[in-house]
Amino acid sequence: MIDASYLRLSVISNKHGMAKKEKKSLEFFTDWKYEPAIESTDHIQLKKQYDLFINGKFVKPNSGKYYDTINPATEEKIARIADANAKDVDIAVKAAKKAYDKTWSKMPAKERAKYIFRIARLIQEKARELSVIETMNGGKAIRESRDIDVPLAANHFFYYAGWADKLEYAFPNRNPKSLGVAGQVIPWNFPLLMAAWKIAPALATGNTVVLKPAETTPLTCLKLAEIIQESGLPDGVVNIVTGFGSTGAAIVNHPLVNKIAFTGSTAVGKWIQKSISGTDKKLTLELGGKAANIIFEDAPINQAVEGIVNGIFFNQGHVCCAGSRLFVQESVAEEVIQKLKDRLETLIVGDPMDKNTDIGAINSKMQLNKINEYIKIGLNDGADMYQSQCSIPKKGYFVKPTLFLNTSQSHRISQEEIFGPVLAIQTFRTIEEVIEKANNIPYGLSAGVWTDKGSRIFNMTQKLRAGVVWANTYNKFDPTSPFGGYKESGFGREGGLHGLMPYLKF
Ligand code: NAI
Ligand code: MG
Repeated sequence: MIDASYLRLSVISNKHGMAKKEKKSLEFFTDWKYEPAIESTDHIQLKKQYDLFINGKFVKPNSGKYYDTINPATEEKIARIADANAKDVDIAVKAAKKAYDKTWSKMPAKERAKYIFRIARLIQEKARELSVIETMNGGKAIRESRDIDVPLAANHFFYYAGWADKLEYAFPNRNPKSLGVAGQVIPWNFPLLMAAWKIAPALATGNTVVLKPAETTPLTCLKLAEIIQESGLPDGVVNIVTGFGSTGAAIVNHPLVNKIAFTGSTAVGKWIQKSISGTDKKLTLELGGKAANIIFEDAPINQAVEGIVNGIFFNQGHVCCAGSRLFVQESVAEEVIQKLKDRLETLIVGDPMDKNTDIGAINSKMQLNKINEYIKIGLNDGADMYQSQCSIPKKGYFVKPTLFLNTSQSHRISQEEIFGPVLAIQTFRTIEEVIEKANNIPYGLSAGVWTDKGSRIFNMTQKLRAGVVWANTYNKFDPTSPFGGYKESGFGREGGLHGLMPYLKF
């Protein structure tokens, strides 16, 4: 995919004060700069204040409380958002329960499918507005919200619309039945996409929904609420309540909720698991990750370098399956690392609304502090840091793309989820060694393998304890493909036929 802005290069002299040798190898890249190509915000519609979406209407919160949601690239306020308390959640859950009992569970599956399909079509129609709002509220580069988040969100609705009246074919002779009310709590890294991952299969299987977006990124979920209204979906089938952790906890603990789907931190996932133990609530958890991206000496090196960059710098590294650990076979380590450093210099960090931008804003001040804290930890632990020479905007939350060379298994930056554009690099000699190292962490969400040899790919996919293993690519998503983790990365699968199961009883 080539953005039109690639064609509008203009020459700018090399402004980076680099060492001569280094400068020479980078000359080709750094002497060129893109003209800004800022996406317009003229076409978007945002209200100054958003209430809770309950029973098909926007209603004022019982709590009477609101908070400001901001643009992390400018630190400016965008809108006021309702902060739902336990009473608000109770009203929302009761609306979902009533809609389940009276309407949704009784509706023929092929009718349900039409609503889901209509939501997908409306997301497509409003794709441009949704991607701009996603970028404004979350900080991710517009290219990503435009080309990845929003189209994939629509595709999830399309895909699950197709399953709604075919559940008996998906699970032959098993007589699948819906559960009731699904309580869904989602994070800030893919706000609209995570809402689609959660809502689409729940509706296709005949359940109703109470969903809470993350506190920092409620806007596209609230726009989705407007789309749901426009689609004519019966009142109460989907309810969207905004707020903080306590709002999420109220959903988790509500007695009328039959199933919890959570994506977020491992700490909160563990807390949820404890709090619903002893109940018959079904649970899926999609938690953190610390994926190994493994480059063998026979890999197509240039493609692998692109894959590494995509793996960790995509969405500022705010990706649970980010390739945040790089393992390079020793014989090609020097070449890969040099190429990676060169590529780092060409990455454009800055205004997420600029179509040229590769790395946008970190989602929140809190997350920025966490990432900077980990960079300090990496330095204190003795790893060698290499950062891009780029400058970052003074206002807003930004981090330079960062490599840590010569890290070891025991370094905290090699073990813990940073959730930022920070890559920990190790080398390896043998296949046994790299499998051992890749698996030796508490997480198991995803991994990447780069090699020319097909049999090695199959060998690795058998031995890596990761829910998804990408081969000669990275961060590829598709609604037909199940996604989920091992170990502390959680359990249950989202996407594909497997993604229907957590919303059904047999
Ligand atoms: P978090 O787990 O606190 O937030 C995720 C969602 O859970 C938000 O909607 C939040 O309001 C809600 N929540 C918080 N406490 C809750 C509770 N007790 N009961 C129910 N819902 C609750 O994640 P946070 O604090 O935003 O990020 C911390 C770290 O977690 C990140 O630095 C990253 O390492 C990891 N994370 C992983 C994600 C993933 O996709 N696996 C997504 C977001 C964060
Ligand atoms: Mg938290």
